[in-house]
Parts: sequence; C-alpha cells; structure tokens
Amino acid sequence: MAKILTVYYSHTGATKEVAEKINAKLGGDIYEILPVEDYPADIGEVIKRGQAEIESGAAIALKGELPKADGYDLIAVGTPNWCSTVSPPVTTYLKSQNLAGKKLAVFVTHGRGALGHIPEDLQKLFPEAKLAEVYDGNVAEKLDEWVKGLEA
Ligand SMILES: Cc1cc2nc3c(=O)[nH]c(=O)nc-3n(C[C@H](O)[C@H](O)[C@H](O)COP(=O)(O)O)c2cc1C
Repeated sequence: MAKILTVYYSHTGATKEVAEKINAKLGGDIYEILPVEDYPADIGEVIKRGQAEIESGAAIALKGELPKADGYDLIAVGTPNWCSTVSPPVTTYLKSQNLAGKKLAVFVTHGRGALGHIPEDLQKLFPEAKLAEVYDGNVAEKLDEWVKGLEA
C-alpha cells in the first residue's frame, strides 16, 4: 500500500483545515510544520518578515523532527499563498528533503491572489519531484476530484 504524508504550514488555520480534510480522505500521516520563532499575529509585521524571508530565500529554523519524504510515496503539501509564492516554512521543509522522483501534491489557500505564481515556482525549485496539479484549497467543491486524481 502506498505510504502517504500530508504536511503543511498554517498561520491562521485555513490551510490546516484543508490539510485535515485531505488527510481524512487520503489516509496516512499528517504533520504540521512549525517555525521555531512564531510569526507575529499583526498582519503588517508578518508580511514584513515573510517578505524578507522570501526575498532572501534562506532556510528558517523549524521545530521538531521533520518527517522524511524518503519514507513516502505521495506527499501532499499545504501552504498559504504568501506574497504570491510558497510560505517560507514550507519552502524550507521541501528544500531539506530528497524529492527525487517523489510525487508532490501541493495545495494552497489564499486571499484575492489565487495561486499566485506558486505552480511555476514549484517547477523551478523542485524539478526533480513529480509535481501533481496544484489544488486551490479555497475551492472546496473541487477537493474530491483532486484527491481522486492523486489516487489514480
Ligand atoms: C505574509 C502573508 C502574505 C500573504 N500574501 C498573499 C498573497 O500574495 N496573495 C493572496 O491571495 N493571499 C495572501 N495572503 C493571505 C493568505 O494566503 C490567506 O489568508 C491564507 O488562506 C492563510 O492561510 P492560513 O490560515 O493557513 O495561514 C498572505 C498572508 C500573509 C500572512
């Protein structure tokens, strides 16, 4: 049986909610990525820090022992859209893993900017992974179809 991991970062809970639904459908393990230094609640402050981290591209410190992608056949990865791209905790996690030949199924929650340039950024950052279609986590009625596509 395929081993499945759902792994996500969520600052305000939207991506967490979608991650839990996906895990309930796919089965397997679920893991919440947490930065060592929590992001501030103030939206202006979190945007300032998030933007600086995205521009630098440097890894940020993450809490705990991260699940190894190596042990899984399918990895569903959830991120909020931050400044039109993947949030730094998720980029940091993915960059720390060996993704060669791994099936990576990214899902995104967002504000008005939809997926931003997340699909293109993933292709550039992780060309060694097998990237499934990115799921727009704001569109609940498409979830079943996306999950079925992953299981096929
Ligand atoms: C630092 C930061 C940057 C964001 N940038 C964008 C953006 O560029 N486009 C967009 O549509 N939403 C943006 N958002 C909104 C989040 O993507 C949206 O609220 C998301 O659902 C939050 O998910 P979460 O509750 O799992 O943290 C941003 C939010 C934060 C905190």
